[in-house]
Amino acid sequence: MATYRADLLSDTLTRPTPAMREAMARADVGDDVFGEDPTVRALEERVAGLLGHEDALFAPTGSMANQLGLRLHVAPGKEMVADQQAHVVRAELGAAAAFSGITSRTWPSVRGLLDPAGPMSLVTTGVGPYQVETALVVVENTHNFGGGTVQPIEAIREVRSATTELGVAMHLDGARLWNAHVASGVSLAEYGSQFDTVSVCLSKGLGAPVGSVLAGSVEAMAEARIWRKRYGGGMRQVGILAAAGLHALEHHVERLADDHARARRFAEACAEVAPGTVDPATVETNIVVLDVGAAGLTAAQFVDALLEHGVRTYAVGPRAVRLVWHLDVDDAGTDAAVTAAREVLSAS
Ligand SMILES: Cc1ncc(COP(=O)(O)O)c(C=O)c1O
Repeated sequence: MATYRADLLSDTLTRPTPAMREAMARADVGDDVFGEDPTVRALEERVAGLLGHEDALFAPTGSMANQLGLRLHVAPGKEMVADQQAHVVRAELGAAAAFSGITSRTWPSVRGLLDPAGPMSLVTTGVGPYQVETALVVVENTHNFGGGTVQPIEAIREVRSATTELGVAMHLDGARLWNAHVASGVSLAEYGSQFDTVSVCLSKGLGAPVGSVLAGSVEAMAEARIWRKRYGGGMRQVGILAAAGLHALEHHVERLADDHARARRFAEACAEVAPGTVDPATVETNIVVLDVGAAGLTAAQFVDALLEHGVRTYAVGPRAVRLVWHLDVDDAGTDAAVTAAREVLSAS
């Protein structure tokens, strides 16, 4: 296995800490398909409580939690709307269409930032048998491909109030909602209150090896439980994984502020040597997207050059490179990334 001075490819790469492994080893377990795993139940109740929802359901992945949420709200042939960079439309491999017969339309966005005019320009209701009916608006917070963008709660509230009047549901892809909460100070319950269903991931910045949770009403979760089994996501003595999630919720949420500060420090260093590659003010959480084209480089050139310094990054476009901070990148790793990026960007 390759080792790096800083592995900034993704926040999904973290390894369980010794304390997390201990919590996993100690976990009380049962068969969760029969609803008999006490640790899974404890995790579901904890997440439902944090998000201010009645109930929650443990899922193997964020993609499955999202897809369960989408299908609860959208009947086959109806549509969901999301922004053009949303994970549910770009990175879940067409699951909404393939599994649930959902059609999608997207609104344009800058850095994934929610402008209520975007969804509201698309939402179409009461059009009888002539046009596709919109059943769901999806919001992603923070926004992954947008560069860790935090969605303003005022914009979310505005969309919520317009969609409520139209009878259109809202789903939050909150894979990194923890980061949004820590960066903005808006409570998880306040975010949660604006949505019919919310998915959150334990396996990204929080550092658990596996696991996501979908939250919603008791009825919605009962239906989601059936679909989870149908999708092959009914897991058995999975309390050992839920224990990692509970441990992460206890110990790894507030520390996300460290990831955010390190990402901002890196962005400031890049902007200093290569203006135009990134605006540090837009680095709100743990993700930096660099426009290395502004420094005369292709994304592939930058990625290769940083790799020579032991720093792994990810090309997300011909001139765009993404770097993600997480539990396993400390100040020394950040220093290594800063030094490498300064050298490569100023040499170009
Ligand atoms: C915003 C967002 N939603 C959902 C997911 C899906 O999570 P998973 O990889 O666990 O399916 C990801 C994964 O990176 C993500 O970034």
